[in-house]
Amino acid sequence: MSCLEIKDLTVRFRMPGGALTAVDQVSLSFCGSHPSAVEHDVPVGATRDPSGPYGRSLALVGETGCGKSVLALAVLRLLPQNAEVSGQVLFGGQDLLALSERELSRLRGDRIAIVPQNPSLSLNPVLSIGRQITEVYAIHRGERRGDSSGKAAYLLQKLGFDDAGRRLSMYPSQFSEGMNQRVLIAASVALEPQILLADEPTKGLDQDLKKEVIRELKLVTGSWDTALFLITHDLEAARTLCQSIAVMYSGEIIEQADTGSFFREPLHPYTQALRQSLPENGFQPIAGISPTLSEPPSGCRFHPRCSRVMEICKNRRPELLNHSGRAVRCYLYR
Ligand SMILES: Nc1ncnc2c1ncn2[C@@H]1O[C@H](COP(=O)(O)OP(=O)(O)OP(=O)(O)O)[C@@H](O)[C@H]1O
Ligand SMILES: [Mg+2]
Repeated sequence: MSCLEIKDLTVRFRMPGGALTAVDQVSLSFCGSHPSAVEHDVPVGATRDPSGPYGRSLALVGETGCGKSVLALAVLRLLPQNAEVSGQVLFGGQDLLALSERELSRLRGDRIAIVPQNPSLSLNPVLSIGRQITEVYAIHRGERRGDSSGKAAYLLQKLGFDDAGRRLSMYPSQFSEGMNQRVLIAASVALEPQILLADEPTKGLDQDLKKEVIRELKLVTGSWDTALFLITHDLEAARTLCQSIAVMYSGEIIEQADTGSFFREPLHPYTQALRQSLPENGFQPIAGISPTLSEPPSGCRFHPRCSRVMEICKNRRPELLNHSGRAVRCYLYR
């Protein structure tokens, strides 16, 4: 079983006018394996039961700008030069943050893959779809493009494309946004990665396409030995695809729960507000505005918006502690 264990990950951006901390001491872990696989080396916070909390698929949810994509990019060391990253990202007994660029590029796209947030920016407009998928086999397996085009067509077919062979010679501009999203997923899972990071794979898609992408991700995690780390605003996608959900607020994890508990009985007032903002609960928006990361509020970062704020919340930062089998950062549960 392969686990990804993020420990105390902090990302600080240096900028001309100062700095901001986009990810603040985040620890998360989850494991990829079929329930029948032999289990060993389960990190703290992950359970041996893949159907239990912290199982083989984890969703990261939270408002825009809270640091979700930065976290994913930090895991794969894809951040720009002005980022200072500390902490550990353990995978297969190695710390990804300590590997040489060469060692890391062997793993990236192979054992750990990412479906980035923006499909139209991530595909090369002047290369055919087939070329962009066979490239993965060429780079990581040294295969000739002609030899891997059959596999590329099979992947496209598996991801719901009809007439997949013909699609290989087409270009991203000839595909819809939803189709390009599926092409990106196909390229990301070509080598059957152990960990797949998917950043907002359903964003901007209409309901039908959303369902399709969710179905395809389900297929990928169900039929291959791939663990999913899903970043999303779409709580429904998180509910369908993931066994546990972590909630990020202003760069911090404020709650992590198994998906059932998350929807049944969210603990943190922010998580409760998130649930209330679901269409099925009347679409009630969360009061107040998200804090800026360059000047986060003192104490609990959610306190200026919290309906249950206490005096202590204003000055002392709560820790993320275990409560009823999950983790929550809130003084209501001390
Ligand atoms: N290279 C950078 N330099 C400085 N700040 C950055 C850089 N990249 C990201 N940030 C900042 O980090 C913060 C977190 O951004 P991030 O993209 O992770 O948000 P997000 O949670 O993914 O939001 P969304 O849900 O909209 O995708 C933002 O305030 C953003 O402006
Ligand atoms: Mg993002």
